[in-house]
Amino acid sequence: MEAAERGAVTVCVTGAGGFVASWLVKLLLSTARYAVRGTVRDLGDGKNAHLMTLEDASERLQLVKADMLDYGSVASAVAGCEGVFHVASPVPSGQPSNPEEDVIAPAVTGTLNVLKACYEAKVKRVVVVSSVAAVFNNPNWPKGEAFTEDSWSDEEYCRKNEEWYFLSKTLAEHEAFAYAAKTGLDIVTICPSLVIGPLLQPTVNTSVNIFLSYIKGDQKTVNNGPKNLVDVRDVADALLLAYENPQASGRYLCSSPALRVSDIVNILKTSYPTYTCPQKFVEVEGSNTYNTEKLRKLGWTSRPMEETLQDSVECYRALGILN
Ligand SMILES: NC(=O)c1ccc[n+]([C@@H]2O[C@H](COP(=O)([O-])OP(=O)(O)OC[C@H]3O[C@@H](n4cnc5c(N)ncnc54)[C@H](OP(=O)(O)O)[C@@H]3O)[C@@H](O)[C@H]2O)c1
Repeated sequence: MEAAERGAVTVCVTGAGGFVASWLVKLLLSTARYAVRGTVRDLGDGKNAHLMTLEDASERLQLVKADMLDYGSVASAVAGCEGVFHVASPVPSGQPSNPEEDVIAPAVTGTLNVLKACYEAKVKRVVVVSSVAAVFNNPNWPKGEAFTEDSWSDEEYCRKNEEWYFLSKTLAEHEAFAYAAKTGLDIVTICPSLVIGPLLQPTVNTSVNIFLSYIKGDQKTVNNGPKNLVDVRDVADALLLAYENPQASGRYLCSSPALRVSDIVNILKTSYPTYTCPQKFVEVEGSNTYNTEKLRKLGWTSRPMEETLQDSVECYRALGILN
């Protein structure tokens, strides 16, 4: 029997094989309310193979090939879907050699292609993954004040400082709301901070690599500034809440309370006495903080960081990427 015949609603997740999207696919499958159509760029690539091993994937997950820059492939992917989670966007690990082509076009044109396809397909709601990168790069925000959804990163400031990823997320999110205002398409955005947690996919993504650089013992000295982190499973929860709650609208910041690197290391040292941690911390003052009240009012909770750290370390050790 087809999943749709059993009452499951079909939703699309773009970039399904990525870090955040994989956990979202897993969550959607676990509720049994959804049949999931996940887009990947290469159906034969082993980096996406984990998706079909998720529980209930053989019943309710269909993978389709789509590049966000190819409108036709995006339109086919979202056709017949009630909802769409637009997650796919490049997250570069360093400075891109061609910012426009490598990062900005896939983020901005990619988002517009998804939204146009959703409008044409009469999709009921689109949840777009933005980022705090579209929030905090704002020199006009009062110093020391927690960022809220009212803050937008300054495009010129991003350009001047060659912060191409920040720029890509800011432009894409602005374009999303402009498209919503023009067409009436129901769009909600989620803006996570640095996403960490256990990996479902076989490759290490950019944010987990950044996190590993804080805690790996091969770095003897690390900056001890507060870090805004969020568990990937909590991000998936936020995306689903934003989709399912009829009251959800606009953008939502998504972050756990900030932790200093030394706090993270102390938690890890307690659980893993053999763990070789950074030896020296350089105190760094001042950091962004985020007011997540709006998301919490939707019912979102973030798990204790101890749990995130423990599960992450178990996973990274099993993969041999942490001692
Ligand atoms: N991780 C974080 O800390 C963080 C924080 C805030 C927001 N976000 C946002 O969360 C989303 C997912 O990030 P992630 O950390 O999960 O990164 P990831 O693991 O690198 O996943 C990115 C996904 O986007 C896909 N993609 C990139 N360009 C594409 C294109 N032109 N067409 C189709 N797919 C394309 C990639 O596909 P391929 O595998 O084919 O390259 C991959 O599946 C992004 O929108 C990112 O900006 C992430």
